[in-house]
Amino acid sequence: MLNNKMCQALNSQITAEFYSSYLYMQMGSWFDSKGLSGFAHWMKLQAQEEAAHTEILYNYIIERGAPAEYGAIEKPRNEFKSPLEVFEAVLKHEETVTGLINSLMALAIELNDFATKARLEWFVMEQVEEESGVGDVVNKLRLIGDDTNGLFILDKDLSTRTFNVPSPLGKA
Ligand SMILES: [Fe+2]
Ligand SMILES: [Fe+2]
Repeated sequence: MLNNKMCQALNSQITAEFYSSYLYMQMGSWFDSKGLSGFAHWMKLQAQEEAAHTEILYNYIIERGAPAEYGAIEKPRNEFKSPLEVFEAVLKHEETVTGLINSLMALAIELNDFATKARLEWFVMEQVEEESGVGDVVNKLRLIGDDTNGLFILDKDLSTRTFNVPSPLGKA
């Protein structure tokens, strides 16, 4: 049986992952409104990935015989000055999520909850990938600056992103 404190913390993470999904859909809408459909596509896939993260946590909590609970989701920010500002906000958000995952891991270790620790290891590495991928887009946007052609090339590049089912869901 899952420790009560651990269960509550994992449930909070379900809400946090749904907030990420919600935030990225909102950012996708900002890009669509600017005619940058490749960036918007990237955001929608990112939102889908975050929803998949909630499913991984849900499955795990249920498997451990505990109830999964959904908390309230706050309204995401929807005004930005530039694509760079959006992606800087994504990077900052992902760094916050990394902190949340690390706190969950610290709790699992404190409680000697080895199963939760093993499940969270996937999330730890996923955050490394997330920060690296988003950081790459931030760097490109900084190089692009005010070059509209560069922005359109990156938009086209981001439009090719495909959805990969996260391995813990095991239905590739
Ligand atoms: Fe996530
Ligand atoms: Fe994420």
